Amino acid sequence: MALRVRVCAVADVVPGEMRGFDVEGVTWPVMVTELDGAVVAFPGVCPHDDVSLVDYGLLEERVVRCRVHGYAFDLESGRCVHLPALHLRRYKVTLVGAEVWVDLL
Ligand code: FES
Repeated sequence: MALRVRVCAVADVVPGEMRGFDVEGVTWPVMVTELDGAVVAFPGVCPHDDVSLVDYGLLEERVVRCRVHGYAFDLESGRCVHLPALHLRRYKVTLVGAEVWVDLL
């Protein structure tokens, strides 16, 4: 069974920007952006070393780069372009009316 939570309004998702939204009961904010016209959501923590992507993440076209050690993650696959063993999880996104919901589990 999925644990689906509301993250933000669809209007809060801006192409070319990534934004973090706090979700009650979740340690790291949920990050959202738009890729090829679709909403993409992922945890606000770098999978390399538990660093906040709200504070240290950069969106560079189709990748999210963590400024701490420079690893970049392909937004489409979540795969690290430097270390294939590292993976940025992507949440399943569901649009409910004008709201963005994601499955945390
Ligand atoms: S903590 Fe993000 S690249 Fe090392």
